[in-house]
Amino acid sequence: MQAIELLHNRVSSARLESPAPNAEQLEVMYQAAARAPDHALLRPWRLIVLENEQLVALGEVFVQANLAKNSELNALQLQKIAAKPLRAPMIITVVAHITEHPKVPELEQLITAGCAAHAIELAAFAQGLGAMWRSGGMMFDNKVKQGLGLAENEQIIGFLYLGKSVKVRQVTPVDSADFVSTAKILNT
Ligand SMILES: Cc1cc2nc3c(=O)[nH]c(=O)nc-3n(C[C@H](O)[C@H](O)[C@H](O)COP(=O)(O)O)c2cc1C
Repeated sequence: MQAIELLHNRVSSARLESPAPNAEQLEVMYQAAARAPDHALLRPWRLIVLENEQLVALGEVFVQANLAKNSELNALQLQKIAAKPLRAPMIITVVAHITEHPKVPELEQLITAGCAAHAIELAAFAQGLGAMWRSGGMMFDNKVKQGLGLAENEQIIGFLYLGKSVKVRQVTPVDSADFVSTAKILNT
């Protein structure tokens, strides 16, 4: 796939099925992530790859995290929560790893982590794979962070669900005038 065609046509896939990306496809995605723009080359992110029983374990952690907030959830609600990570055969958790730096504030490091996540989505799509970036309350939950082994200076910036797309959506071109302007500098 040509680069511009990829950039103009990448879409997410909410419905994903097996197989999970193989080792070769994953390596292509990791190398793409590593090309995220990165002030001072801090590489302020890391990836945690989950599949099979680890997805089930993540669902269990989601259940415990939800129960800690609301002990009255019923069996059906808990079942739905436990099944969330099973919506794809693989999840890559993208973790921002923030360090103090005199020239690179936290925001820039988070942006780099986001760019790495997007590069993974692009590299997945370019290889004919499906991906969906998901977040939600679980991303910020301490039990989930502990379950995934995050350090104090780390935060989850997304769960990338990966697999084979059930259906690939066609993109409708947008009107770039909606979000592009020429400069109107105000001299105050
Ligand atoms: C940081 C971030 C978090 C997201 N979280 C969710 C989510 O929890 N659930 C969801 O349906 N979409 C979420 N999305 C949006 C989807 O990944 C996707 O981009 C959106 O559905 C638009 O589809 P498209 O990528 O095909 O344009 C998130 C996107 C970003 C960048």
